[in-house]
Amino acid sequence: MSKKVLLSGVKPTGVPHIGNYFGAMKQFVDLQNDYEAYIMIADYHALNFIHNAKQMQDNITGILLDYLAIGLDPKKVTIFKQSDVSEHTELCWIFDTITTMPYLMRAHAFKDAEAKNKDIVVGTFNYPILMASDILLYSPDIVPVGSDQQQHVEITRDVAEKFNNTFGETFKLPEHKIMKEVATVPGTDGQKMSKSYKNTIPLFAKYEEIQKCVMSIVTDSGAGIPKNIYEIHKLIRPENELKEIYKENEGKYKALKEILIEDLEKFIAPLREKREELEKDIPKALEILKAGSLKAKTIASKKMEEVKEKIGVKI
Ligand code: ADP
Ligand code: TRP
Repeated sequence: MSKKVLLSGVKPTGVPHIGNYFGAMKQFVDLQNDYEAYIMIADYHALNFIHNAKQMQDNITGILLDYLAIGLDPKKVTIFKQSDVSEHTELCWIFDTITTMPYLMRAHAFKDAEAKNKDIVVGTFNYPILMASDILLYSPDIVPVGSDQQQHVEITRDVAEKFNNTFGETFKLPEHKIMKEVATVPGTDGQKMSKSYKNTIPLFAKYEEIQKCVMSIVTDSGAGIPKNIYEIHKLIRPENELKEIYKENEGKYKALKEILIEDLEKFIAPLREKREELEKDIPKALEILKAGSLKAKTIASKKMEEVKEKIGVKI
């Protein structure tokens, strides 16, 4: 029996942090043996935020090395770049013609931007439709994403249904694989860890950087378990071990932070070393990406032919 198909992706918008890892990237590695997996670098999505060519290039190469360093195996996973497969933006346009503005105005990302009174670019408004195209071209069974992306997967299903109802059965509706079990990783200030809040612990941090981040973790002065330290600690050490450590060190925040620093270093060091190794041969990594994009293109262009027939532009 052929394997089920999985597709997911991450925007290359900067240095990944342990929230990205535990919330999204780790699952890709865990699932790669059981699925035919497609993992995308969503560079056209990132273009909504990054308008600097050098930075974009560095981020793309960076995330490619990150994927390989955390253990995505190119023999099992097709790693590819969104912009290498022009069918994504092409299909996005077709979907635009069957999607209404009021429908997209209900999307969280748009509402958040609107609430902040930001000047919203059309790319942000249309973000979920490009994401629907990313997904539907590959007919995946599952799309593993964090809960903040749940609505985008729901929109994808709606768009697929709308197209199928309008032009005839074409797209498979992906199952919801929202990783509920993956909690939101808190940052050093207790809010959700996020690049935009500057409260992150980078996934490939050097020892000194780990020290600095952990020492900046905000602790309240109340007794008991310091939540902000513990919530990060439990990602990398079993809770039965932690219970004892936290009991022995009750009230001693500095000691607990020092233990967390050592545990983070134990967890991060092998990943960091692997990434440093990969960084020595970037052309090799880029070859992997090129081969992945070629494979993705073959699948996407076949699907696009079907779409073009259905909508009647192929004569
Ligand atoms: P950021 O908020 O740092 O900009 P992104 O929006 O680029 O992160 O998120 C990339 C992926 O990582 C998404 O799938 C998202 O669900 C996941 N993710 C981001 N921050 C966290 C977090 N604090 N906890 C769990 N998952 C997260
Ligand atoms: N929007 C996703 C995020 O911000 C990234 C993404 C783009 C994606 N296209 C996708 C995720 C397709 C899964 C499938 O994290």
